[in-house]
Amino acid sequence: MTGLPPLPAREGLGEGMVAALAGMPDPAGAEFTTRFEHDLASTFSSREAVAVSSGTTALHAALSAIGIGPGDEVLVPALTVVMTAAPVVLLGATPVFVDSDPGTLDLDYADAAAKVTARTKAIVPVHLWGRMGDPAKLRAFAAAQGLTIIEDAAQAAGSSRADVTAGTVGAAGCFSLKDGKILWSGEGGFILTDDSQLAAHARAFRSHWLQPPPGSRPQERIALNGRLAEPLAALAQANLRRFPALLEYRCAQTAHLSRALEGTRGITPLQPATDEKWNCYAPLLHIGLPHPRAFAEHLAQQGVPNSTGSFTLVPCDTRPMFTSPDRAPCRGAAQILDRTLALVLTERDTVAVLDRYAAVITWEAAAWCT
Ligand SMILES: Cc1ncc(COP(=O)(O)O)c(C=O)c1O
Repeated sequence: MTGLPPLPAREGLGEGMVAALAGMPDPAGAEFTTRFEHDLASTFSSREAVAVSSGTTALHAALSAIGIGPGDEVLVPALTVVMTAAPVVLLGATPVFVDSDPGTLDLDYADAAAKVTARTKAIVPVHLWGRMGDPAKLRAFAAAQGLTIIEDAAQAAGSSRADVTAGTVGAAGCFSLKDGKILWSGEGGFILTDDSQLAAHARAFRSHWLQPPPGSRPQERIALNGRLAEPLAALAQANLRRFPALLEYRCAQTAHLSRALEGTRGITPLQPATDEKWNCYAPLLHIGLPHPRAFAEHLAQQGVPNSTGSFTLVPCDTRPMFTSPDRAPCRGAAQILDRTLALVLTERDTVAVLDRYAAVITWEAAAWCT
């Protein structure tokens, strides 16, 4: 069994943070944020990048920038975390949950079309686990229905499909830098957009509308503090320099696990689409065993962290705040979550850790008979 490439160097990660601290306190300081935004735009070939305090804030600011407000409906996959839907609700709009296709993990466009009404303004595709749906299908659907696309690319930094980079399919792409993402700064997020007005709105939105976009007056509207702290911007910038190596490392970890699990009873790696360049955010395994969700929970108890077992990931439309007796649940999303073992990795997971995960999965799958 082959090993992993060397862990991307961590020396110097804190140097920028120390430099940022040297300039503090400075209530107006934004030097490191500005530098980080510049580097993001060039890394992701986007005209603008706006750094914010979290992925949730990125979605909140982007949806605000396209004018989402009370009375509007926004299509959101049920196959997501609550953070995708929360900003829609905070803006006074309604998330309308759309199913996903268990065969591809992409949106179920027939279900999406059936859920469009005169109030639907936008669609927020989510590249869960870094897996990206077909961008051409998404663009064609949004254009036909007159919807704006705001991507939730929180887990998808580095993924692309048909040469379209995650986060650049529609009006804006929203990313998270939360600890555990491949590109991380502890907490944080950013927006990619080619639309300078959208970027100006997001910058005003992240800072109480103190520096308004053209055509607006300071504090003309209520916004919030969604700024990225300067030391975190410096840390994010240092990690952005390691990003190609971090991606390579994550993909090598995933390949190693797949090889180690070959022949494991009832466990098969899910393959990305042929035109997809997947960032391997979470190694994905189909569970072909009885009571698959209980198996994922059992693995979590045995020290193998995974999306459903460790973080009780359920379809968003089944969360208590969204359930409604008049709506049919999104069964495709439920099936995907029940049958997918999405392993949670970090860059600190060495070959020894991965081999332990593989050994536990293999042993427990062989013994699983409930
Ligand atoms: C798919 C998805 N969307 C949105 C978010 C929200 O990002 P944050 O935690 O940085 O607010 C996350 C974070 O984990 C996520 O995984």
